[in-house]
Amino acid sequence: MSRKALLGGLYLGETLGFLKPHPSNTIGAFLHRSLFRYGNVFKSHLFFSPTVVSCDQELNYFILQKTRGKLFQCSYPKPIHGILGNVSMLVAVGDTHKRLRNVAISLVSITKSKPEFLNDIERIAVQILNSWKDKQQVMFCEEARKFSFNVIIKQVLGLTSEEPETGKILEDFLAFMRGLVSIPLYIPGTPYARAARSRISSRVKAIIEERRSRNGRSCGVRNDFLEILLSVDTLSEDEKVSFVLDSLLGGYETTSLLMAMVVHLLGQSPTASEQLKLEHEQIRSSKERDEFLNWEDYKKMGFTQNVINEALRYGNIVKFVHRKALKDVKFRDHLIPSGWKVLPVFTAVHLDSSVHADALQFHPWRWEVINNINIKILDV
Ligand code: HEM
Repeated sequence: MSRKALLGGLYLGETLGFLKPHPSNTIGAFLHRSLFRYGNVFKSHLFFSPTVVSCDQELNYFILQKTRGKLFQCSYPKPIHGILGNVSMLVAVGDTHKRLRNVAISLVSITKSKPEFLNDIERIAVQILNSWKDKQQVMFCEEARKFSFNVIIKQVLGLTSEEPETGKILEDFLAFMRGLVSIPLYIPGTPYARAARSRISSRVKAIIEERRSRNGRSCGVRNDFLEILLSVDTLSEDEKVSFVLDSLLGGYETTSLLMAMVVHLLGQSPTASEQLKLEHEQIRSSKERDEFLNWEDYKKMGFTQNVINEALRYGNIVKFVHRKALKDVKFRDHLIPSGWKVLPVFTAVHLDSSVHADALQFHPWRWEVINNINIKILDV
């Protein structure tokens, strides 16, 4: 074997070790070994780049704060750019990212302020719960996926689960996701995922055009997310389509995994489960039978929020993100050379007992204390 091939194999070996699946409430053998040998900030060679891996809370915070600025930028592996396209929010940098993000923030805040937003979500949840009535058993992960997809597709494109277009978008989206998760190591997945992306893009474009022409025929302008997106003049047509795909990509797997994680963890914690039920029953009992919940009701769900925070910490839905140093960066006694990849690893901090006492316990009540400390800091 040539020296180059041997080195390539070694480097790939590190990446395979880093990505090797492990329970999400553990850091995995690769990090375990590396932390023990080198401490919580160390150098490696991952995703074909020299890399600094950070498992340090303060350094992670610093990297994330300084991202999209002059020190760090998002840096996902090249095949991901090929699939998502350069105007996806996950890969765009600089002014393009700023412009896309501003539109995203204003779209989300306008949509959230409308009562239909919460009502539609509740309607979809009730519909799915009703569909369980005559079943002995349900696969919760599948149901959670169905829920997330139906919510996003309704919020973003105004489609319901009964419309035939919804099923077609789901099919292409799943193919697109399968290609994406196999990256960056399974490069042959790329053309497959690209083709799926191009099919969803055409469908989304057709939906946008149909809506535009309906508005032109004055068939009654709907007051939804797509309507606002159509009226935005700072985004090109491709950016609007990419925006819809980003919402699906960002929200689908993450929220459904989180819901499944919450159900799994509550199954192991009867006390937390009881407290959550009590909180919901108290809020429900103050409403009429068919009355929808509103933001005020959700704001009263303090314990529910603690359960969500704890599931995010303990369940580690997103384990790390990809960044690149734009110049030499010195942080304490660590030097991150310009051009190197930087991976802030959330899992390592979430499961660090010096940061979270009894880190390997699912304990939603810890967030009561953390939230109180944060409120006190904000008051000072
Ligand atoms: C449990 C739920 C979620 C988790 C854990 C999660 C996690 C994350 C993380 C870690 C990032 C940062 C990626 C990076 O900077 O490299 C991110 C960005 C993003 N997420 Fe989520 N997300 C969730 C839900 C959602 C939902 C529901 C949507 C939309 C419907 C969404 C859309 C996005 C978008 C568009 C970005 C890019 C933002 C930017 O570049 O400024 N996410 N998400």
